Amino acid sequence: MKYRSEITGVGSFVPAQTFTNFDLEKMMDTSDEWIQQRTGIVQRHWVEDHVSNSDLALEASLKAIANAGLEKKDIDMIIFATLSPDHEFPGTGCFLQAKLDLPEIAVLDIRQQCTGFLYGLSIADKFIQSGSHKNILLVGSEVHSKGLDKTPHGRNVAVLFGDGAGAVVVSARELKDASHESRIITTKLHADGAYAKELWIPAPGTGFGKDRINHEMVEQGAHYPQMNGKTVFVHATKRMAECLIDACKDAGVTLNDVDLFLFHQANLRINSKVAEMLSIPEEKVFNTIQNYGNTTAATIPLGMDDAIKAGVLKKGMLVASAAFGSGFTWASAIWRY
Ligand SMILES: CC(C)(COP(=O)(O)OP(=O)(O)OC[C@H]1O[C@@H](n2cnc3c(N)ncnc32)[C@H](O)[C@@H]1OP(=O)(O)O)[C@@H](O)C(=O)NCCC(=O)NCCS
Repeated sequence: MKYRSEITGVGSFVPAQTFTNFDLEKMMDTSDEWIQQRTGIVQRHWVEDHVSNSDLALEASLKAIANAGLEKKDIDMIIFATLSPDHEFPGTGCFLQAKLDLPEIAVLDIRQQCTGFLYGLSIADKFIQSGSHKNILLVGSEVHSKGLDKTPHGRNVAVLFGDGAGAVVVSARELKDASHESRIITTKLHADGAYAKELWIPAPGTGFGKDRINHEMVEQGAHYPQMNGKTVFVHATKRMAECLIDACKDAGVTLNDVDLFLFHQANLRINSKVAEMLSIPEEKVFNTIQNYGNTTAATIPLGMDDAIKAGVLKKGMLVASAAFGSGFTWASAIWRY
């Protein structure tokens, strides 16, 4: 039998605590005007001290499983995308699996940062099409707030990121008439490690001398994200546009056929530029960065859930996604919801 992958459930969760740009003005030398003009961000959600990444992921996962009309026991694999794990190892997927009380099912953690969800979607699609799995829980979840330099020194990065989680259930369905069925139609994955240090967290890591982490590295701030924002911006617009076109070709559709674009949310200006480059009407791009900042791997499923709740994303629509992030990595996907 041939199988198609259908997104059957979507869920998301953000911590209750919000920080507006005005709140950040009190912590670091920044302004609401600078942040809004440069990025579009108005506020972000940041967890309370006792909350971990897998706590957010659990809430989003339970909602996605219920939304799919399934029970926890129906899930036969977890794919977890994050750059802000509960601990160095094991992967946060294992902590989530324990919290879901789903012993023995396969767990796969992936490290593709802002592109993590689309890499995960591609992997889930392949497992489903192979016939080996029936219902895969794919989660993107981040707790950035505990790893940001919130002093004036870190303002160029700290203002950009927020916490949150999004999850989908990707289920196996029999493939009949491919053209009109809800299914993941294509995914395109790319990376260029030559740019790995343009957006990264150097420590802890074995890429230094003797220690994975020591006091000197902490004093230098090597455990905080470091970014060359201008380089990221230029590559993001180019690569997102390229891989969207590529995905359309592969899916046998045009950009005009796409009903809704769910882009990664790193910067409103990046998304406007991509839309402009491809003559995509702004109203077809669903942006959420205003409310959440950049939530990295959580962004696309979080946006998907918001779009469904807002009545913007409806069953049967043709959806295109594109993301760009650290690595550099970039990816696109086209699916019929
Ligand atoms: C980060 C980004 C918004 C910065 O915008 P920019 O126009 O490139 O700004 P610059 O970095 O050139 O900084 C301009 C000025 O603002 C200052 N600045 C930086 N962060 C600031 C902040 N939070 N508040 C106020 N001023 C700030 C800089 O110090 C600089 O001052 P100077 O001109 O006196 O030197 C933009 O480069 C960007 O969005 N890049 C992509 C980032 C991204 O997508 N990251 C995630 C990838 S998935």
